[in-house]
Amino acid sequence: MSHALLVLLNGEMLPLSKARVSVMDRGFLFGDGVYEVIPAYDGRLFRLRQHLERLDNSLAAIRMASPMSHAQWEQNLGRLVAQYPASQDLGVYVQITRGSSLKRDHTIPDRVRPTVFAMANPSEPPDAGLVEQGMQAVTSEDIRWQRCSIKATTLLANVLLRQEAKDRGAVEAILVRDGLVTEGAASNVFIFLDGRVITPPKGLCLLPGITRDLVLELIAEEGIPFAENAVTRQQLMDADELWLTSSTKELVPITRLEGRPVGAGVPGPTWRRVNGLYQRYKDRVRAGDVEGVR
Ligand code: PDD
Repeated sequence: MSHALLVLLNGEMLPLSKARVSVMDRGFLFGDGVYEVIPAYDGRLFRLRQHLERLDNSLAAIRMASPMSHAQWEQNLGRLVAQYPASQDLGVYVQITRGSSLKRDHTIPDRVRPTVFAMANPSEPPDAGLVEQGMQAVTSEDIRWQRCSIKATTLLANVLLRQEAKDRGAVEAILVRDGLVTEGAASNVFIFLDGRVITPPKGLCLLPGITRDLVLELIAEEGIPFAENAVTRQQLMDADELWLTSSTKELVPITRLEGRPVGAGVPGPTWRRVNGLYQRYKDRVRAGDVEGVR
């Protein structure tokens, strides 16, 4: 990030080099915090309301109050976005930790002021050539905790799982817990099997992805058959199509899983159709036709 650009720390816009946090911050010591990643297209924050609602849910789940109203978030994040030309796509990162106290103690301190940090980073659309080829994924045992619905900054398991996938030549680790697919290390999972799209249901074992929800909305509007059902490891291996979704990577077609082709080994027709719907929705956000917030 260029040094001319400012980040937001505790209500102040500061150059990155001036944005400092105490070593006693519980985010640093315990990973005691939550975050969001919100894309911005043409200066408009993509699905901002949904991201802020998920942030409120994450905060409530870790016994924290939201430090700002949605209107205040909109105003503050808008200041970060406004630093760039509208043509620059962005990823806005927001992190709130419980704050710092004088003593390292696991128990939540009585009076502590949260640390609120946000920055906007340039992002590029996924490489069209790579997307057309499809990508590789592997499966891994889901070694994470049992509150994966919280978008917590405590990401050590995800870091190790993603690195293990990379070491095996893959872009993502698809996680399996008790024989059932949960999600990717940093994405949600969709399969196409027996003529319908299936994604695992929301619950404590996966993050309720904003891209996941939008994809389900678009699929429902289009009348494509779908179900939010448990997906077994065997169904994953037998799927005709497999895709991953996230705010940063959008809809990623996986064409090799554990070194074997998925379906015909090329991005499938249902992925193509749904990705087309998603790209059209993005264009409508860019044009200000749907709820993207500027
Ligand atoms: N991660 N599941 C996990 C574990 C994730 O970390 C993410 C996104 C998703 C997809 O959620 P969404 O569609 O709301 O981006 C699912 C972000 C992008 C990250 O950690 O950078």
